[in-house]
Amino acid sequence: MAFNLHAILACPARIGVAASLHALVSCAALSVVATCMSTLCMLSLCMLALAPRAHAQTTFADAHPVFVARCSGCHAVVGFGGFNIAYPDPVSAYTDAQAPSYYSPGQTKGYASVVRMLDGTMPMNGGCTGNPALDAGNPLCATAGELAIVQAWIAEGQLPPLAMTGTSFCSGHQDPTPCPCGNAGLPSAGCAHAANELGARLVGRGSASLAQDGLVLEATRLPASSALFIQGDAAAGTGQGQVFGDGLLCVTTNVVRLRTRTPIAGTARHPAPGDAPLSVQVQAPGSVKHYQVLFRNAASYCTSSTWNGTNGLRVTWTP
Ligand code: HEC
Repeated sequence: MAFNLHAILACPARIGVAASLHALVSCAALSVVATCMSTLCMLSLCMLALAPRAHAQTTFADAHPVFVARCSGCHAVVGFGGFNIAYPDPVSAYTDAQAPSYYSPGQTKGYASVVRMLDGTMPMNGGCTGNPALDAGNPLCATAGELAIVQAWIAEGQLPPLAMTGTSFCSGHQDPTPCPCGNAGLPSAGCAHAANELGARLVGRGSASLAQDGLVLEATRLPASSALFIQGDAAAGTGQGQVFGDGLLCVTTNVVRLRTRTPIAGTARHPAPGDAPLSVQVQAPGSVKHYQVLFRNAASYCTSSTWNGTNGLRVTWTP
């Protein structure tokens, strides 16, 4: 297994908030989980566990079993701390996880949950430190793999427990086309932009079936400017995109401009009620379509150009 020290060292520096949880969760998405807290790091006892994670999108469906395994005693029914993140039904548990936290003001209780698993204050009286190497042998404590999942869930945007449609590609992490200024966002997102260092992200939800088209494209972490949804028949630049403004253009061949939208709180969706369904632009069952959202990025960032984009999303349409 490759030990990607460069990614570990480069990440907090790029983010500029060294040793904060924010940096830790961002780094987690680079397949590296720093299972240490800042004090341990300062003592040079920092344990870096490598978490071999696929770059799939982590939803609450992945994180919920970890909370059920570790937190049920007090957060399944009893509701200590005002929430039940381990409630058996993941939809209810997710709703509770999105309530505002008192432990991490300005964040959700889900975010605070990961903070408290890492700082060793939860599970309460479990005798855990938050460092899985030190906690090995204590059955109450989360394993390195479990921590990697909940950290990825936070880093990738605390997604609800919904099934996702399509596969992310062209995130500016891979050769031969990295982000133009080394400004990679998260692995499943576009390049970082002035309004969001994690990069804007495109996901698909709902059924990509020609007979029962329920597919909705959803872009998040967008700046407050117009966002253009496009579709192409192929992935640009052998799948890794081509440089375009401050980011990458991910799609090519028969490019269709689907819709321009103004994001609300950083999020834009297509189609919206009243729009033609996406399948109108699909010729035949089995067609593979490539989607992306391009957006204006007026602030000077990376290059003098004012464009950037999300990751690409590859969807295979079934009959
Ligand atoms: C033995 C009981 C117990 C267990 C097990 C437990 N907790 Fe808690 N939890 C509490 C109590 C009591 C509080 C309220 C007091 C406090 O915040 O310290 C609390 C509060 C919290 C809060 C604060 C909520 C907020 O708004 O900020 C979070 C987050 C939390 N717990 C996460 C977890 C997670 C994650 C787990 C599992 C890894 C867990 N707890 C396991 C007893 C427990």
